[in-house]
Amino acid sequence: MVRHDLGTATAATDKYDIIGADVPDEMLFKGDLLVASLSESPRNVNSIYYYDDTGSKLFERLCDEQTYYLFRTEKDILDQYAKTISGITGPASLIELGSGNAEKTTLLVGAYVRAYGLTSYAAVDINRSILERAAENILSVSSDLNFLGIVGTYQTGLAEIKNLVSPKLLFCLGSTIGNMHDGELDNLLLTVRSALSPGDYFLVGIDLDKETEILEAAYNNQTAILANLCVLQHLNWRFSGDFDIFQFRHVSRHNKSMRRMETYVESAQDQVISLRRLNFSFHLEKGEMIRTEIMRKVELNSFIMVLSRYGFRQVQYWTDCNQRYAVTLFQLSG
Ligand SMILES: C[S@@+](CC[C@H](N)C(=O)[O-])C[C@H]1O[C@@H](n2cnc3c(N)ncnc32)[C@H](O)[C@@H]1O
Repeated sequence: MVRHDLGTATAATDKYDIIGADVPDEMLFKGDLLVASLSESPRNVNSIYYYDDTGSKLFERLCDEQTYYLFRTEKDILDQYAKTISGITGPASLIELGSGNAEKTTLLVGAYVRAYGLTSYAAVDINRSILERAAENILSVSSDLNFLGIVGTYQTGLAEIKNLVSPKLLFCLGSTIGNMHDGELDNLLLTVRSALSPGDYFLVGIDLDKETEILEAAYNNQTAILANLCVLQHLNWRFSGDFDIFQFRHVSRHNKSMRRMETYVESAQDQVISLRRLNFSFHLEKGEMIRTEIMRKVELNSFIMVLSRYGFRQVQYWTDCNQRYAVTLFQLSG
């Protein structure tokens, strides 16, 4: 049986416990950072703006899209290897970063429940409503599990889990790490390292580089288009903006040299956009694009090298038969 000591981090003791609602939105969605990124060249918006309640539902729908192979492929890998992963780590405290609805996580949690009688699981996500759906999914594995949902960023969330007993298995699925720019990834890996102890595990699901045709099909379906335009709706709602989504076109394309997909909204005309709550306006020319997301497509050995620079030793990795996607287990060195 794994003992989970959450110290003072949680208030309640129920099976279904979501904390962090007291983190002010201004701490999660920082207006000054948005103004700075919308003033850069190219203008861009952090991918957290995908994940309001609407965006979180659209992400769930995207996972069902025929061309969006990422979800199905990672799910198949976990289905096949969750037991192996649990066998390698032994009993562990399970913590997930950017859990979404934790549908795939049920496979991992199920393996740890069967092998070691796991009694609790913690998830960090910026969206509260998706954590509620995650709780339903996780509790469907076993009604004896305690679910701790932490509403916050990876950084605020990781601060909450420091007191969990080791060994820990921290994991980040859905190629979420691929949405991060170099500085964000560096920040995340430093924070993850300081939240873990030597010997703890870090499991990462990451999409591999592949043919343009397959990649562009994954991000140009109806749901991906809608989710992208909804970023503008999110900005309107949060910052009293006046983006007219009918004056923008979705663009998602493979940047081969940077090994990433890039998603943009392209302005259909010359226009001035205001975000009144931020006291900020800017001019967009016809055809000008605002980048809303990057999705890195990695070469596995380079990825493993990057993590090794932060003290993570690769233990084992698993891919699908088409080598589209990889789930890699790392261990923090002493
Ligand atoms: C690509 S989705 C992956 C969801 C899930 N892990 C899966 O594999 O289906 C990314 C998730 O991370 C959350 N997220 C995005 N940025 C975040 C941040 N800075 N801090 C915490 N959670 C974040 C989103 O709300 C979303 O649920």
